[in-house]
Amino acid sequence: MIRIFYVSTAMPNLTETEITQIVATAKQHNAKFEITGALAYNGVNFAQVLEGDEIHLEQLMDNIKNDERHSGVIEVARTSTEKRAFEGWHMKHIEGLKFDELVHAMSA
Ligand SMILES: Cc1cc2nc3c(=O)[nH]c(=O)nc-3n(C[C@H](O)[C@H](O)[C@H](O)COP(=O)(O)O)c2cc1C
Repeated sequence: MIRIFYVSTAMPNLTETEITQIVATAKQHNAKFEITGALAYNGVNFAQVLEGDEIHLEQLMDNIKNDERHSGVIEVARTSTEKRAFEGWHMKHIEGLKFDELVHAMSA
């Protein structure tokens, strides 16, 4: 299993409804592929941690990179892991600037 941490720049003026929608889709899709993780949005940037089988995460990253709701996706870190930092969370929505939870997860 691998864990990926990326950051991106959100499309300007994304609404809370749109963020809720991204998280809802993520939860549904990720459950099917046993992907867990967390998504933070601070009004300007997204930061996300994704955990799962490499083949599924590669496909998801391709989808995510092509998503017009953000741009400039930069993969900051990728680790191989046996243990999930976000066990039980098909996508945890983290409010505001609490990116530290994501950064911390990378060393879990
Ligand atoms: C910041 C951000 C994070 C996303 N995270 C996920 C995710 O964890 N899982 C997911 O399935 N889709 C996620 N998406 C949505 C995907 O880009 C894509 O819209 C979704 O996988 C549906 O793809 P499909 O229309 O080809 O089925 C995210 C989108 C954005 C903008």
